[in-house]
Amino acid sequence: SQTHIAVVVGSIRKESFNRQFAEAFVKLAPADFKFSFVRIDDLPLYDQDADAAPAVPTVARLRDEIKQADGVLFVTPEYNRSIPGVLKNAIDQASRPWGKSVWAGKPTAVMGVSVGVIGTALAQQHLRNVLAYLAMPTLAGNEAFIQWKDGLVVNGEMGEQSKEFAQGIMDAFVAWVRKFPQAK
Ligand code: FNR
Repeated sequence: SQTHIAVVVGSIRKESFNRQFAEAFVKLAPADFKFSFVRIDDLPLYDQDADAAPAVPTVARLRDEIKQADGVLFVTPEYNRSIPGVLKNAIDQASRPWGKSVWAGKPTAVMGVSVGVIGTALAQQHLRNVLAYLAMPTLAGNEAFIQWKDGLVVNGEMGEQSKEFAQGIMDAFVAWVRKFPQAK
């Protein structure tokens, strides 16, 4: 049977390096892993007052997509040494109403691409803090602090120089997700 992973990219710009990397990365997965990219650019800003009413369609869609997933992959830029607001908004939206968080128990991994040399290390550390609170078992070690450069992704495929590194991360992620067969 198929293992389904929801991919959350923390950048909503069209030419996002993180999205380009994520799209090449998921091609390294085994055949029984299926990835779908979750849309976060059309979500309203989280407002606790909205929890009293039925979720608007975009929020309901996000919550449902995460709920149906066996695992979650976060690929995010670093904005001002943290995660982008759009990503935090999506995380908050799917964490409520209180007691109904769809994140809990989903195995996950964190990666990121930046134009700077520290490759989103600080953003990833902030994100790990959030994921710990959300009770998401998060892949440890296998850190992926990636700096964008020519050749990282070539025609939608992982570039030659990064392929072995990226494959190692994918293999670790797949093995991690397989440890949590009841996550859905
Ligand atoms: C950035 N960038 C950035 N890079 C970094 O390494 N550390 C940082 O703290 C920041 N801060 C930051 C804030 C804001 C508001 C912007 C717009 C950008 C640069 C960032 O790495 C670059 O814009 C990437 O291209 C963003 O990722 P995507 O959109 O290409 O996926």
